[in-house]
Amino acid sequence: MDTNLLTLFKLSLIFAVNMLMTRSLSDADGGDLSFTQQPRLLQCNQTVLLLEMERCGERFRSDMSHIHPDDRCNLTHFIREYHVFSSCTETNAERIGCFWPNPAVERFIISIHKHFFSNCSLEQVFIDPPDDTLTLLIFIPVFLTLAMVVLVVWCSKRSDLLA
Ligand SMILES: *[C@@H]1O[C@H](CO)[C@@H](O)[C@H](O)[C@H]1NC(C)=O
Ligand SMILES: *[C@@H]1O[C@H](CO)[C@@H](O)[C@H](O)[C@H]1NC(C)=O
Ligand SMILES: *[C@@H]1O[C@H](CO)[C@@H](O)[C@H](O)[C@H]1NC(C)=O
Repeated sequence: MDTNLLTLFKLSLIFAVNMLMTRSLSDADGGDLSFTQQPRLLQCNQTVLLLEMERCGERFRSDMSHIHPDDRCNLTHFIREYHVFSSCTETNAERIGCFWPNPAVERFIISIHKHFFSNCSLEQVFIDPPDDTLTLLIFIPVFLTLAMVVLVVWCSKRSDLLA
């Protein structure tokens, strides 16, 4: 049970890191995007937001179904699908004028984690450093930034306690 919770926690961190990365990547090739981006003018509609998240979830479900059941806890095998999924939630939330991440999105992500990874142990997910190049490209920055995210979470926890 504990390891499952840890797995969920780690995946949530990866998700957060992915968010930071895709954000800085899209900032980097910014020109085109800033032309269509007008999220501040739109009012975030929670109903539409949940529909969009469901669509990302459906796509993730279908992507995951192509992975052999034995490999569904193997980060090497699902990191690309997961990356697509987290980008999907971010892009679509922002497109319809919602902040990202936000509580509704987080709840959805956690339910996705529970659904797909509740049977995975931490060891299963993280035992092997991926060897494939593209996977490494995603994997390494994720783990470099992981420390940063942990620090941020830890600091905000502390300031909550101190406040
Ligand atoms: C949100 O979108 C739905 C479906 O388009 C619409 O029925 C509803 O009125 C909208 N809610 C708000 C608060 O704009
Ligand atoms: C997790 O294990 C339970 C019990 O063995 C099974 O019913 C369920 O389908 C599994 N979930 C996933 C996502 O594999
Ligand atoms: C995960 O997948 C990789 C690549 O196929 C494989 O080498 C490794 O043994 C797998 N890890 C586990 C724990 O099954």
